[in-house]
Amino acid sequence: MQPFGRHGRCWLAAVSSHPGRGSFSGGDVRLERGVAPLPPHRPDRRFPRMGGNGPATIDQRRAACTLLARNEEVGVMADESVLKVLGISGSLRKGSYNSAALRAAQELAPAGMTIDIFDRIGELPLYDDDVRQQGFPPSAEALRDAIRGADALLFATPEYNYSISGVLKNAIDWASRPPEQPFAGKPIGIMGASGGVLGTARAQYHLRQCFIFLDGRVLNRPEVFIGGAPQKFDADGRLTDEGTRKIMGEMLQGLADWTNLLKRGAATS
Ligand code: FNR
Repeated sequence: MQPFGRHGRCWLAAVSSHPGRGSFSGGDVRLERGVAPLPPHRPDRRFPRMGGNGPATIDQRRAACTLLARNEEVGVMADESVLKVLGISGSLRKGSYNSAALRAAQELAPAGMTIDIFDRIGELPLYDDDVRQQGFPPSAEALRDAIRGADALLFATPEYNYSISGVLKNAIDWASRPPEQPFAGKPIGIMGASGGVLGTARAQYHLRQCFIFLDGRVLNRPEVFIGGAPQKFDADGRLTDEGTRKIMGEMLQGLADWTNLLKRGAATS
C-alpha cells in the first residue's frame, strides 16, 4: 500500500470481510482506504459501491479522507498502515526460550509492525470434537478471534520429540475447525528455539506441513533456528546473541514484505 495522502488520493469503502485486509474503524463506520482517482465532484451522488455504513456522499468521503490525511500528518497511524502480528509460543513454561524469542521479536520488529502475544493457549482444553460441536469454548473463540484480527501470525515453536509441542498442536487444532477457519490465506512467520544444535528445524517443518492443509501462507526464508538456546539468552530471557538478533530482524522484515505483498494481491483480485 502506498503511503496514504502522499502519493495519491484516497478511496474509502465499506470494509469487506476479506481476511488479512487492514481497516480503519471509526465508531460503527468501518472504512477501507487505498489509492484511486476521485470522480468529479458530485456531492449529491451516492457512491454505488458504498455499503450501508460507509460515508454516503462524496463530500462525506472527502471529509473522511481529509481526516485520515491529517492523522498521518500528525503521526497518528491509521490501522491499515500498521501490520498487526499475533505471536504464539508453543511453550507454557515460564522460562521458555520460545516465549523469550517472541519478546525479542517485539523489540526487533521493523517500523510499522506491532507484535501482540497470545498467551492463553494453556487455557484450551484438550481438543474434543464432541465439545466443539456444542460450541467453541471461550478460550478457543478468543484464539480464533485473535488470529482473525491479525494481519499475520508469528509462531515460536519448541521441538518436542522431533515435532511441535502438544499444546501448540492442540491450539492449532482448536483454531482450525469450521466455520471459517482463520488460517486460510494468513501470512505466517515461523521460528523456534531449543537446546539442541538444529534449533527446532524438525519441528518447524512439521509446523509448515500443518499449514499446507490449512492454506496458511508461510514465509519461506529466512529461517530462524535458535540452537543452543541457553547460550543465546541471558538469565532474564533477553536474546543476547547478535547473529540471532540479526537473522530474526531479517525474517521479521521478510514477514512484513510478504504480508504487504499478499495484501496488495488481495486488493487487486
Ligand atoms: C524436548 N527437547 C527437545 N529438543 C530438541 O532439540 N529436540 C527434541 O526432539 C526435543 N524433545 C523434547 C521433548 C520434550 C517432551 C521436552 C520437554 C523437551 C528439549 C527442548 O528443546 C527444550 O526443553 C526447550 O527449552 C523447550 O522450549 P522452551 O520451553 O524453552 O520454549
